[in-house]
Amino acid sequence: MGGGIVLGLETSCDETAAALVAEGRRVLSSVVASQAEVHRRYGGVVPEIAARRHVEAIGPVLREAFAQAGAGWEDVDAVAVTRGPGLVGALLVGVAAAKAAAFARGLPLVGVNHLAGHIMAAYLEGEPPEWPAVALVVSGSHTDLLWIGKGEGGAPGELRRLGGTRDDAAGEAFDKVARLLGLPYPGGPAIEAAAARAGAAGGLELPRPMRDEGFDFSFSGLKTAVAVLLEERGPRVAPEAVARAFQDAVVDVLVTKTVRAAEACGARCVVAAGGVAANGALRQRLAAACGERGWRLVVPPLRYCTDNAAMIAAAGWFAWRAGRRDGYELDADPDLDFEDSPAVRWM
Ligand code: KG4
Ligand code: ZN
Repeated sequence: MGGGIVLGLETSCDETAAALVAEGRRVLSSVVASQAEVHRRYGGVVPEIAARRHVEAIGPVLREAFAQAGAGWEDVDAVAVTRGPGLVGALLVGVAAAKAAAFARGLPLVGVNHLAGHIMAAYLEGEPPEWPAVALVVSGSHTDLLWIGKGEGGAPGELRRLGGTRDDAAGEAFDKVARLLGLPYPGGPAIEAAAARAGAAGGLELPRPMRDEGFDFSFSGLKTAVAVLLEERGPRVAPEAVARAFQDAVVDVLVTKTVRAAEACGARCVVAAGGVAANGALRQRLAAACGERGWRLVVPPLRYCTDNAAMIAAAGWFAWRAGRRDGYELDADPDLDFEDSPAVRWM
């Protein structure tokens, strides 16, 4: 199996990324070319522009990943690529590049679920997670609570979906509320910075939708509550205080439900993943909640929380080792989702 080096490629949204990772853990290089600047003026990602930018960036990003690792194609053992979920035109660029590379070099090809990549980022630094664990996946398109069992040799095993959002994803809510507040895209980091300036919510209280029931989420009502608040109080309310009240509400719901899920499953390890897991308030509240209960919390370092290809290489390595191989008919699946399944399938 050589050095177990996997080339990862990621183009599901507005980041073109390539990485070389050994044994699913040791990052030899991780290159991310962000298009956020291009999409900012439109207040969100424009799919057509994203796809075209990926076409321009994928070659240079790949070359940079090899250069930073000081590696060549002869060092690569498998090619892993995000096959979904995401923007179809954007995904197709990475899938086509991965197929071409695998075909030209005679390498095994593994299509990876982008969200599984976010979870497997937990392996990239520090102590790896202990399964069974409950995973909270919070990104621009997803808010999922998952149970992941223990597989062979301590590897991640079977996955069961406990719940998810019924409308907006947590990241989507951050982005939409940022827009209402006149803050730039992406909204998450902008709201976090504004909330930090506020210090406290200044008496503003926003609803915590579905907090006290089950494992599903709903964030669109919260966004509407912000819109109504701004309409009623307008300039008499500081945007920073609204940002703080909104962040407090989202974090409260996410943490309360994650704790409830881990308790219900008897899991003593929690993994938080996805772009929203970069949020400092969420990380702190989760750390406190897990600490009180003697549970382990695994959250990837910030650069591996937001979209990157090292996480795709990590997930690809686990799937490859478990025997998964995809053929050249591998296709982008913009709506790919988690289904209850063994490890070799959910990654
Ligand atoms: O995982 P990700 O980079 O891309 C997707 O797969 O969607 O997540 C992007 C989302 C965006 O909605 C962004 O606003 C949010 O993650 N995000 C944050 C923070 N950084 C990124 N949300 C809250 N706080 C942050 N610091
Ligand atoms: Zn993502």
